[in-house]
Amino acid sequence: MVSLAPITIAVHTLGRDSRGQLIEDVQRGLSASPKFLQPRWFYDDRGCELFDEITTLPEYYQTRTEMGILQQHARAIMEMVRPASIVELGAGTCTKSRVLIRAAKGMGSLWTFVPFDISEATLRRSASELSEEFDDLTLYCVTGEFDHHLSQIPRFGRQLIVFLGSTIGNFDGDDAHHFLAEVRRLLRPGDHFLIGADLVKSEADLIAAYDDSRGVTAEFNRNVLARINAELGADFDLQSFAHEVRWNDAEHRIEMHLRAERAQTVTIPAADLTARFEQGETLRTEVCVKHTRDTLEAALQSEGIEPVAWFTDSAERFGLLLAG
Ligand code: AVI
Repeated sequence: MVSLAPITIAVHTLGRDSRGQLIEDVQRGLSASPKFLQPRWFYDDRGCELFDEITTLPEYYQTRTEMGILQQHARAIMEMVRPASIVELGAGTCTKSRVLIRAAKGMGSLWTFVPFDISEATLRRSASELSEEFDDLTLYCVTGEFDHHLSQIPRFGRQLIVFLGSTIGNFDGDDAHHFLAEVRRLLRPGDHFLIGADLVKSEADLIAAYDDSRGVTAEFNRNVLARINAELGADFDLQSFAHEVRWNDAEHRIEMHLRAERAQTVTIPAADLTARFEQGETLRTEVCVKHTRDTLEAALQSEGIEPVAWFTDSAERFGLLLAG
């Protein structure tokens, strides 16, 4: 642990390096049929820049809609919850939690903010920015992975755990259950959980949000191949993979794929792997599950987390569910 008054930064790291994990995921995903990759590998420096750009696109309504809901309802949420501590999972730049912190500070209940994120550099930057606005708030940063380190998040009295941005939608299969079960383990009587979720809407609106007219999402998608080239010495020809977005009705989710426009063999030396792509074959790079009020409530309830109140925009495009 490193202490930098007034910011405390606790660092929890994985037992193996992130490159080792990338190699393992590439070996598993590119040997599978159909091929897939975990979306976490989008977010190298360039991927983070592209994602930031996505959040400002006219077609990508999610970020500004969620922010609008937070701005409108932060005070009401805080009056219901009155936390001594806010824990944000996947905090990143803490832009949204800042709205919650302001509301809670205005009521005098909040003492500690615990941002949890994979990137130590991002957390250090966010924490120092937050400390300028909230000089009497203890900032206890934790770096770690959702699937390994949630249990190590320290508790500072009655807490509100927040998980915003509809990131829950990017968890595939059992990962969402596992994540919610871990959140449940962190909750004590009187604690609350606030989760943001993108809601089911017209297929056309959903496809447009992931296939924007400027091609930023296409570049974000292909960037994962650029990253594997740069970090693992692979020879993906980015231009021969097309960005493809599908609505999977059975699973209520958007899927992002990269479709090989010609048959090709890719070598990935650091992973000791050769991957053959047939023409038209796709590599699935992300799933983005879309919820209804019922499906999100059911997902939480199946882990023993009870819904308390919904906050949405007037068109019900995006929802925040407060639970406990
Ligand atoms: C981070 N996550 C919630 C985004 C989403 O909408 O699923 C990632 C993203 N992928 C393409 N555009 C945005």
